[in-house]
Amino acid sequence: MKAIVVTDQTAGPAGMKLVERPEPQAAINDVVVQVHAAGFVNTELEWPSTWADRAFRDRTPSILGHELAGVVTALGYGTTGLSIGQRVFGLSDWHRDGTLAEYVAMEARNLAPLPGDVDFTVGASLPISGLTAWQGLFQHGRLQAGQSVLAHGAAGAVGSVVTQLAREAGAYVIGTGRAADRQKALDFGANEFVDLGNDTLEDIGGVDLVFDVIGGDIQKRSAALVRAGGTLVTVVAPTDVRPADGLTVDFVVEADRVQLSEIVQRVRDGRLRPNIGKVSPLDDAVATFNSTERRAGKTVIRVRP
Ligand SMILES: NC(=O)c1ccc[n+]([C@@H]2O[C@H](COP(=O)([O-])OP(=O)(O)OC[C@H]3O[C@@H](n4cnc5c(N)ncnc54)[C@H](OP(=O)(O)O)[C@@H]3O)[C@@H](O)[C@H]2O)c1
Repeated sequence: MKAIVVTDQTAGPAGMKLVERPEPQAAINDVVVQVHAAGFVNTELEWPSTWADRAFRDRTPSILGHELAGVVTALGYGTTGLSIGQRVFGLSDWHRDGTLAEYVAMEARNLAPLPGDVDFTVGASLPISGLTAWQGLFQHGRLQAGQSVLAHGAAGAVGSVVTQLAREAGAYVIGTGRAADRQKALDFGANEFVDLGNDTLEDIGGVDLVFDVIGGDIQKRSAALVRAGGTLVTVVAPTDVRPADGLTVDFVVEADRVQLSEIVQRVRDGRLRPNIGKVSPLDDAVATFNSTERRAGKTVIRVRP
């Protein structure tokens, strides 16, 4: 099968290669999925799990990509809950070969059914950004109706879902980003927008929840805006930054079938609008990831036409 692999940790996106690899086999509780579309997060090349297995052994050449939509083609020993021919979407294990390939073997529990009226490209755009937003807002941030949320990068893949889910939950949302992203963030439902390059973040006063996707100085300044009892949620990296009288949660998103189903249902009934940027075929994926062009929204690789 065709797959995009990396072998050199120092090479960046230039080290990505489209190669032939053996088709994967389904282990216990696995399914094999024929991938129709796959998402990709640029920072994946920096994650230790891209390069090493859970015992910290080199696992290169590793196949990139951890979110997908496709069709189940095989079941492993003991696998229940999904069947051959079923349309699915989900989030694959960080430490295993991924989804930028024609086939992937992954645990069935990390997938949810993809309804027949949802396109594979849309399905592949949802798992990482959708689950990250859901878990950050509702599990870790314990968001309640009437609270305020500072949604950083509100025009980006995660931030646009944060903005939409928080609004639906009855929160007041202040989106942030670059000047060019103002209208896009407002269109996703932000009540107001802070241009981080030209406006003063501190002018917003206090918020109950900061959803950080940027880190660094922006994260520090945002922590100072968290009201008593509020939360700074960050998905950038582990951090020591704390609000004066609140909580910090840094986390890595987990697969969750029930949450995936909640997210896709919102897409079907129009409560959640996918944020898809460039869509490329697998043959062009390496060039797409190496392009210096700004890629707004989720880049989706269409593995099968
Ligand atoms: N821990 C987890 O489980 C998890 C899960 C998902 C994502 N993440 C992380 O979350 C981050 C965002 O992911 P994503 O997929 O949402 O990326 P994305 O689509 O690129 O969104 C990030 C948005 O923030 C904007 N932004 C970044 N730095 C900015 C700055 N200094 N000033 C103004 N705007 C800025 C970006 O604009 P530009 O494009 O112009 O920079 C973009 O619109 C990444 O670091 C990713 O690794 C972590």
